[in-house]
Amino acid sequence: MAEKDIERVLLTADEIADRVNSLAGEIRSRLGDGEIVAVGVLTGAFVFLADLVRRLGGNVDVRFLRAASYRDGTRPGELRIEPAGDLSLAGRDVLVVEDIVDTGKSLEGILRWLQERGPRSITSAVLLDKPDRREVDVSADFVGFEVPDEFLVGYGLDYAGRYRNLSSVAVLRRSVYEGRD
Ligand code: IMP
Ligand code: MG
Repeated sequence: MAEKDIERVLLTADEIADRVNSLAGEIRSRLGDGEIVAVGVLTGAFVFLADLVRRLGGNVDVRFLRAASYRDGTRPGELRIEPAGDLSLAGRDVLVVEDIVDTGKSLEGILRWLQERGPRSITSAVLLDKPDRREVDVSADFVGFEVPDEFLVGYGLDYAGRYRNLSSVAVLRRSVYEGRD
């Protein structure tokens, strides 16, 4: 079971809900009452996105994109971004929603890719930020929580496709990804 793989809970479901609620208010204050195109980065952002858009209220168009990096491939660090379904952003106010900023390479690439599609504005919201790990100079407009440099799962974040369904954000036991038990 998933619970035995958890070292400790970092953020409880209640703490996350409170923060998401206030983030939604801050985002609405910044963007106003008009339509927002919320673009979730698959797959990790789906839980955060679901909670955030329900707190935003007003007109929200929910869309998705896929971003995959191939760090151990022949071209290390290459980021491939593609829309998941229709994604027309020209002249619109875009809110990109991501689970976590680590090195920053994904968010930087995603912001550049979105910019090329001619939106009126781009605002970024990430649930978690690991500032100690940053390799490129990028920061999100809205950050839920700054977190330490540990491997986290839950509330959408996975390890090898698991633990996304945990309600909290938790530190995964090292033994899980170091192959011991
Ligand atoms: P970056 O390009 O290094 O900023 O990587 C961001 C992506 O790495 C996130 O969208 C996650 O998919 C993944 N990631 C980074 N840290 C963690 C973590 O602690 N747990 C799960 N996924 C993570
Ligand atoms: Mg991701």
